[in-house]
Amino acid sequence: MLQFALLAAASASISYATILPASKPVTLSNINPFIAYHGRWDASPGTWWAGSGVKLNVQNLESLELNLGPHTTAPLASVGVSVNYGPYTTVNVSQGANIIPLDGSNSRGNSVVRITTEGWQDNRMQLDSIVLNKGAQVRPYTPSKLVFQVIGDSLSAGQYLDQGVLQAWPVLTSENYKAELRVNAQPGAALKDIPAWGNVHGVSYEYFRTEDTGYYYTTDHNYTTPWDFSHDQPPPTHVVIHIGANDASQNVTATDFEQTYLSFVTRLRTLYPIQPILVFTPWGWPAADGSISYYYPGSYEKIVDERHAIGDRNVFLVNTTGWVSWEDVFPANTHPTEAGHAKIAGLFETWLKTWGLHPESSWATKVAA
Ligand SMILES: *[C@@H]1O[C@H](CO)[C@@H](O)[C@H](O)[C@H]1NC(C)=O
Ligand SMILES: *[C@@H]1O[C@H](CO)[C@@H](O)[C@H](O)[C@H]1NC(C)=O
Ligand SMILES: *[C@@H]1O[C@H](CO)[C@@H](O)[C@H](O)[C@H]1NC(C)=O
Ligand SMILES: *[C@@H]1O[C@H](CO)[C@@H](O)[C@H](O)[C@H]1NC(C)=O
Repeated sequence: MLQFALLAAASASISYATILPASKPVTLSNINPFIAYHGRWDASPGTWWAGSGVKLNVQNLESLELNLGPHTTAPLASVGVSVNYGPYTTVNVSQGANIIPLDGSNSRGNSVVRITTEGWQDNRMQLDSIVLNKGAQVRPYTPSKLVFQVIGDSLSAGQYLDQGVLQAWPVLTSENYKAELRVNAQPGAALKDIPAWGNVHGVSYEYFRTEDTGYYYTTDHNYTTPWDFSHDQPPPTHVVIHIGANDASQNVTATDFEQTYLSFVTRLRTLYPIQPILVFTPWGWPAADGSISYYYPGSYEKIVDERHAIGDRNVFLVNTTGWVSWEDVFPANTHPTEAGHAKIAGLFETWLKTWGLHPESSWATKVAA
């Protein structure tokens, strides 16, 4: 960057004095290599799927403005902003210039800012540029050694939560593990590639696409494109799948569901040859009378056994039976509440520790005042 600026200045015969003193705000174009993109971005570049966003490591950070283009959700998209790994605060952003509040940033030393979309819909943020205060210097963001990839439906997307995915168990667990996270969780979608609850495709199709189901309901980007998995840097170290509720509600038979799941895992193995794949059983749908209705009983065990039988020992069953009861869900839709998601995250973390995976002791990109 700096080298380029100096060359450009020299060739235009501008004295150093006009560019070197920190007299102007610092503009990062969307192709600045120090912008660490996570999640799924199209070529504009614009986000799809809850949980997509950017991370920045900046020296001497005082202000940050996001300039967003016309493919941004109108009238607004809700994003969470986390400064120096603090809690996510919701900021509603729109096309044009958006000032991002930076409570807790370091005007000396360095700060890490993470900006992540919250919703499973209205989640499009088209990034034109980022403008930082004069004197700010962007640095490389070093990702955590742990990278979770979560694949699921509404139960992982945080549907019905105020801050969407940011209050759901995948984010809670990855934060506690000081891990990077990619989530592809589509409310209403079956795993099998069939229409379900407004989704024109199932997750076994959508997972390989850039866009979430929202593409179908937009006029400015009414198509879907293959996802280039080489953009997922670094690749996941752990793959977690929690799916099946919407296959069950669409009456996909157990045999069909198992076949679909096994084909999906076979395809995932072409991307993730050795990573552990953690297969969640359903925690089911609790009822007011204390009963819980489970779907595909025995199927998840069969899927894991089948992988083991063909020599793939790196697939593990996460038995979530009993993790969620009536007091953990919203009565109106039986999806976990904010407290319910925190409980699930805690139980999953206990499972992970018993299994042998422990949180990182610190984030890989440190912050310092
Ligand atoms: C963001 O917008 C939503 C939807 O209009 C609104 O409910 C929420 O209060 C807004 N949040 C903030 C922090 O402005
Ligand atoms: C998007 O295209 C599909 C056909 O592929 C059409 O059925 C749908 O109505 C379109 N959506 C919008 C919002 O125009
Ligand atoms: C699934 O089966 C139930 C019970 O037979 C039926 O009421 C429901 O309409 C079916 N749903 C679909 C999407 O076919
Ligand atoms: C899952 O956990 C439940 C409750 O502890 C138990 O009854 C069931 O046998 C377990 N299933 C498997 C496959 O381990």
